[in-house]
Amino acid sequence: MAQNWTPNSWRQKPIQQVPDFPDMAALASAEAQLATYPPLVFAGEARRLKSQLANVADGKGFLLQGGDCAESFAEHGADTIRDFFRAFLQMAVVLTFGAQQPVVKVGRIAGQFAKPRSSNIERQGDVELPSYRGDIINGIEFTEKARIPDPERQIMAYRQSAATLNLLRAFAMGGYANLENVHQWMLGFVKESPQAERYRKLANRISETMDFMKAIGITSENHPSLRETDFFTSHEALLLGYEQALTRVDSTSGDWYATSGHMIWVGDRTRQADHAHIEYCRGIKNPLGLKCGPSLTGDGLIELIDILNPSNEAGRLTLICRFGHDKVAENLPRLIRAVEKEGRKVVWSCDPMHGNTITLNNYKTRPFERILSEVESFFQIHRAEGTHPGGIHIEMTGNDVTECTGGARALSGADLGDRYHTHCDPRLNADQALELAFLLAERMKGGRDEKRMVVNG
Ligand code: TRP
Ligand code: MN
Repeated sequence: MAQNWTPNSWRQKPIQQVPDFPDMAALASAEAQLATYPPLVFAGEARRLKSQLANVADGKGFLLQGGDCAESFAEHGADTIRDFFRAFLQMAVVLTFGAQQPVVKVGRIAGQFAKPRSSNIERQGDVELPSYRGDIINGIEFTEKARIPDPERQIMAYRQSAATLNLLRAFAMGGYANLENVHQWMLGFVKESPQAERYRKLANRISETMDFMKAIGITSENHPSLRETDFFTSHEALLLGYEQALTRVDSTSGDWYATSGHMIWVGDRTRQADHAHIEYCRGIKNPLGLKCGPSLTGDGLIELIDILNPSNEAGRLTLICRFGHDKVAENLPRLIRAVEKEGRKVVWSCDPMHGNTITLNNYKTRPFERILSEVESFFQIHRAEGTHPGGIHIEMTGNDVTECTGGARALSGADLGDRYHTHCDPRLNADQALELAFLLAERMKGGRDEKRMVVNG
């Protein structure tokens, strides 16, 4: 076990991004209540995810991580979850079939409620109120009452996460994710989309393959891997009181696990080596993500890896790089070289969302071509350095929103107002997410063919 670590040792450290709870007794009572509730995930599942990520760290496989920027209480419904899962499965199947590599599937879901903010205050006209920090903390409405941090919201977030996870498990294990349904996942708006034809062709090839396998006796009845998929959950471990309340000892190993989700990550704003968020994360055994932005140096990264993964366990740590399309070339090689020089085992993942946010017509948006450009650079740089571009981390929804500009439907700045629903950052809609998946599959395949050429040549 990590030295001098306890689930609450983070409370002795400096901390960023803490809400101003007016009633500390109510906060303590909500946390005490959460501590009596059942865990949302099991340690064995987190270990299973870790072993899948270890393969990715080893160059075998790809991590697909995505979901809302921030989940909301208002949009908690079966249709939203199904639409998200369907879009996610489509991406996964495009990547698996297109790139012929296993895809590790991790949602930003069932716990992604707390948001770090660049300012504590939001101003509208001459009114100033505390910033919205995610539904687990306060309300998004711009009123004094809504913006007061309310500890009861943590109980609501826990219950929503449990219900969401329950439906996701049912979808993943109960037949919805069966590869025989690959055509059905196209139902909904993506059917009329520019990506539909491409997807239909790929689905036809999968169906044909399935028919062939059926003919030789391999069916989804006798091979569960054809009808089931491992789907894991993740979120930013920002609200540490909530995380602590759900931190439990695994009875089989005696180790501590965060049971709020399978994987948790530390944000770029809260990753100071001697601060609370890193302190909390070092003591739990889950797979961890670390967001890496332009201010991170090679030495700074190695210092964090020393703390978070001292035994150099593959699959423990995923570096989620978020530089911006115009900064990735300048920043990523430095981190790759530092990690390679020290022989650290990590999964390299690309977050092409957070470094590419701009304001257009008063909307926060992200141009799709900048997102693609950061992804392209990420792949090129890894090819040049001889490392494995192991994953993607995106903000997406299964719905037909208009939040990011561009894509095959060429959404413009003027379209943003049509269906701009996000509670925080702009997300890819299902169409744009699928388009990105096709591009990723091509790049992944390109890398494989290149490797083969080197071997044969
Ligand atoms: N079990 C395999 C996997 O998860 C194959 C599979 C089943 C699959 N359903 C899927 C792959 C849906 C992608 C999408 O990879
Ligand atoms: Mn975001």
